[in-house]
Amino acid sequence: MEPSTQKLIHTFGALADLGQEIAGTGDFSEMVRTSMHLLLGTLALRRGAVMECVEAGPLRCAAIWGLGDHFLSGVEIDATQKTAFLKGETADFLVKNTDTSTGFMNQHRDQLVREGIELVLPMIVRGEVTGLILLGGKASGEEFSRDDFDTIRAMVRHIGVGIHTHRLLEQIAQRAEENRRLYDDLRAIYRDTVRAFAAAIDIKDKYTQGHSERVGKYSEIIAREMGWSEEEVEGIQIAGYLHDIGKLIVDRDIINAPYNIDAKNSSELNRHPSAGYEILAPIRHPYADIPLMAKHHHERLDGRGYPDGLTDEQIPMGAKIVSLADSFDAMTTDRPYRRRRSFEDVVRDLRENSGKQFDSKVVAAFARAILKEVTGETKDRRITKLLGKGYLEGEHVATLLQDLITDLDSTQKARSAS
Ligand SMILES: [Fe+2]
Repeated sequence: MEPSTQKLIHTFGALADLGQEIAGTGDFSEMVRTSMHLLLGTLALRRGAVMECVEAGPLRCAAIWGLGDHFLSGVEIDATQKTAFLKGETADFLVKNTDTSTGFMNQHRDQLVREGIELVLPMIVRGEVTGLILLGGKASGEEFSRDDFDTIRAMVRHIGVGIHTHRLLEQIAQRAEENRRLYDDLRAIYRDTVRAFAAAIDIKDKYTQGHSERVGKYSEIIAREMGWSEEEVEGIQIAGYLHDIGKLIVDRDIINAPYNIDAKNSSELNRHPSAGYEILAPIRHPYADIPLMAKHHHERLDGRGYPDGLTDEQIPMGAKIVSLADSFDAMTTDRPYRRRRSFEDVVRDLRENSGKQFDSKVVAAFARAILKEVTGETKDRRITKLLGKGYLEGEHVATLLQDLITDLDSTQKARSAS
């Protein structure tokens, strides 16, 4: 093979390697170093450096070989010098050529010559000087040939594009980070607003202080136990906070009537799920189906609920969860006209109404979550805290829950087998 052909193959090989290096997703500074070594190796050069132009301030050394650590440190490249580089794209950029060299070389010639730099090439990408590549002479002492210049130009362009791409990616990553922070802030604002609303709803109903907040928490616990994703869990917690938002438009006296409201007032009160839907539907919530969960939290599996009398499969799972959380809180909190029910009584109610009012899968999930706290399987004590001291104490509590879960599971199995 002729030496010139061999050299050509070698050069192509180096370019291919360089392309691979630049396209790689690895460490950026490692990429620049390897690229420079490929360039030096291809032409057997003694020394070289890749200097990056930064927005403002001195050149930044990205890779250096065979030169002092402080080579060109603090040297800046100004706008006039950049323009000269851009204009002279076809020049050979030989340091010794005083007639064709740019302002930058004229200014730093003494130092460049002292350090053994013979070529200073700009990396130009999209009409901008990304940086400079400075190269020493050939180890053989030969002059650079035309072919050498072509090879160098191709490789310099490659490295320039690599650096440029890296910067773009960095900018994108930074923007993404900023966006993420903004998004987090928005979500926090949304959550705070929702909580404020929940508090407003609860204040209107003097008997149910903290009800919405507790329904939000119970709903979240049930959904998590059912294996919902974190995003969905967060969504149902919001739905729990807002489920009674429709009560804001119902007359305060009707909401606060101790008991036995007449049919007219009862139908007025029963408007609240639909009213809630009307309030929530136009809002762009960060979670899916929140308005529907509010609308259907008084539906029953047997179709005897309201507002639409939906049956089992027609009721969104989220609404079933909020419905159970809502009823559970109503049963386990005191009202002025009655004390809260004992846990035994509540479990009996859940058992009786599973499959009629409540979805058995939802009841079983809630029972499992409570059982985990009772047996200490989880360190979490959220339900225990919400229910107050003493409510879940006693050995019979775990047995009650375990029996309920077993019964619900076997009913579930029987149903799916039939
Ligand atoms: Fe309600």
